[in-house]
Amino acid sequence: MYWLGIDIGTGGSRAILADDKGRVKAGFTSPHEDMRMERPLWAEQRPENWWDAAQNAIRAVLKEAKVKPGDIGAVGLSGQMHGLVILDEKDVVIRPAIIWCDQRSQPQVDAINQKVGKDNVLAFTANPVLTGFTLPKLLWVRDCEPKNFARVRKLLLPKDYIRFKLTGEYATEVSDASGTALFDVVTRRWSEDMADRLNLDRGILPQVFESSEITGQITAEAAEATGLKAGTPVVGGGGDQAASAVGNGIVAPGIASCTLGTSGVVFAHMEKPNYDPQGRVHTFCHAVKGKWHVMGVTQGAGLSLQWFRRQLAPGAEYDALMAEAASAPASAHGLFWLPYLMGERTPHLDATARGGWIGLTARHTRADLIRAIIEGVSFSLKDCLDTIEGMGLPVDSVRSSGGGARSPIWRQILADTFGKKVTTLETQEGSAYGAAILAAVGAGAYTSVPEACGAVIREVDSIAPRPHESQLYQRSHEVYRSLYPTLRPIYSLIRNLG
Ligand code: XUL
Repeated sequence: MYWLGIDIGTGGSRAILADDKGRVKAGFTSPHEDMRMERPLWAEQRPENWWDAAQNAIRAVLKEAKVKPGDIGAVGLSGQMHGLVILDEKDVVIRPAIIWCDQRSQPQVDAINQKVGKDNVLAFTANPVLTGFTLPKLLWVRDCEPKNFARVRKLLLPKDYIRFKLTGEYATEVSDASGTALFDVVTRRWSEDMADRLNLDRGILPQVFESSEITGQITAEAAEATGLKAGTPVVGGGGDQAASAVGNGIVAPGIASCTLGTSGVVFAHMEKPNYDPQGRVHTFCHAVKGKWHVMGVTQGAGLSLQWFRRQLAPGAEYDALMAEAASAPASAHGLFWLPYLMGERTPHLDATARGGWIGLTARHTRADLIRAIIEGVSFSLKDCLDTIEGMGLPVDSVRSSGGGARSPIWRQILADTFGKKVTTLETQEGSAYGAAILAAVGAGAYTSVPEACGAVIREVDSIAPRPHESQLYQRSHEVYRSLYPTLRPIYSLIRNLG
């Protein structure tokens, strides 16, 4: 039997096919169109483009693996979280999705806090409401595009739009629903309080499942479009971070993961919901039934390097950029990078924050610029880790994953910055692999997600922190941490310039 995992990322949609020993038989990524950024800090993508990419990726893995569609036991979905996909009564996408890193909705966040009350929001959803979450984006459409809002019949998250195309069902699961600000994370169901107090029709919300539950079957039409067999079950899956945590075996306390994708995330498992009183990290449902997780998010992690490459080193290979960074010394001759290219979540929760280098001199080289980017993103992730440990959730070691973590140079810098062992796994497929594991559990091949992870996940490499560099990074991290509070008053001045 085989398990198909599909991840609807930001840069592309990836499909992988795993066999019943957990070995990946084939994987294929179909790139997405670039994010549309009509204004600074706005970000949109077309759900129809995700569907095209998902179909390409599914067809490509089926072809590469030469697996009969009837041998695929189940499909699992993962995807970028928080994005707003709205459908009209004919199931047509009403407008492009406003995606996770879009920061336009601060006025709506303020209005929610005023109308519902900050303490109530925390009590109803276990988190403060943030510009990145889905609810304020929906209210932005209500406020700014009333004609579009009047047509809304269903609200879906990005991977759940693909589920709808595959199965015809309007459904989601607990980990992704947690990031909407409309979900009661403690009881694992939609928050009627939030919807009612904001006069929203609860009927637009999809049905919620646990991540390994079956949510529907591949339709005849989707079978035609993808090459899958009609009737194949599709399980809930997970938001990309919870799915990636499953793919990395973060299903018990003690080990955290650090994912370096477009965003960067430090993620830890929780047996019971626990909060950072300042709301700097998210308390969400895990893709493991009846468990929770906490995660800190750096908005511009891989994005920082993608931006650099596109603007200042077009055509350069990422490996070459990393080698260039390695040629500069630790701390890049006193140069700092603030990765706030799309505002920042952990620890600042500031939609207006802006990125940049601080400390440039005429002596600095391009190698220093890149090194500072890698270090600045790592410092931001260290802030995530510190916040999580500060909640009384000790972390012994960190499992790295995501595109950025393929670089041993970046993994060493992470180990030095964190002062912890950073390990890598035999299968570094992250979210898509986690989605395939959830599919296997949903189809009954394992009795639980931790049992499946125990059977298929193995560490193969471990990088220890180097004492000298760790000490140096501790001092640099202190300087880094002093930069944001100093610059904060300036960000609103910049925003007022338009
Ligand atoms: C998590 C988050 C991002 C997106 C895109 O809260 O916003 O990680 O899921 O990967």
